[in-house]
Amino acid sequence: MVVKLNLIAAACDNMGIGKNNNLPWRIRSEMDFFSRMTATTKDKNKKNVVIMGRKTWEAIPKKFKPLKGRINFVLSKSDLDLKEYEDVYTFKSLENCIEKLENNEFKNYYESVWVIGGSNIYKESMAAKQFYRLYLTQILKTYDCDTFFPEIPDNLKKS
Ligand SMILES: NC(=O)c1ccc[n+]([C@@H]2O[C@H](COP(=O)([O-])OP(=O)(O)OC[C@H]3O[C@@H](n4cnc5c(N)ncnc54)[C@H](OP(=O)(O)O)[C@@H]3O)[C@@H](O)[C@H]2O)c1
Repeated sequence: MVVKLNLIAAACDNMGIGKNNNLPWRIRSEMDFFSRMTATTKDKNKKNVVIMGRKTWEAIPKKFKPLKGRINFVLSKSDLDLKEYEDVYTFKSLENCIEKLENNEFKNYYESVWVIGGSNIYKESMAAKQFYRLYLTQILKTYDCDTFFPEIPDNLKKS
């Protein structure tokens, strides 16, 4: 099985995705869509992997951490201590995540892989040869944001 990175993001009119390390909006249907897409598996014995940056991890309210029913991969250049959490792995680079996903034993545990942000991880994932699909929800409104979805490379845009 080849690793396929699915990216999922919601961006508003100015391609903003975040503000003050939080979502700029509260849209229940968007949250539900995110949960359904990232958590649903065909094989009930498997879970999906979600890959996120340290800030996105920190933005998840404590009661929802780790994202349930999913294997959480958290990226940081520092040594994060998240051992208190089940099903949470920390990595120093996207390459290290991919190595784990390609590990023959680990492959038995997961079904699909979802990159859930933020900016740099989306950018690196779109440039990676393992990039598969981008699911981008357009929020048809302009919010004040300090974090933005990166430029989508031309080769990924529909002609
Ligand atoms: N609308 C959406 O769909 C969506 C999705 C996700 C997040 N968000 C929002 O976006 C904001 C957070 O995103 P962000 O872009 O600011 O931060 P982020 O990507 O969640 O986290 C950034 C941190 O992740 C680590 N990191 C990033 N790339 C790495 C790499 N290649 N290797 C190792 N570590 C790496 C670094 O941690 P260290 O500093 O510890 O080294 C970096 O400082 C929040 O406002 C959040 O609510 C929105």
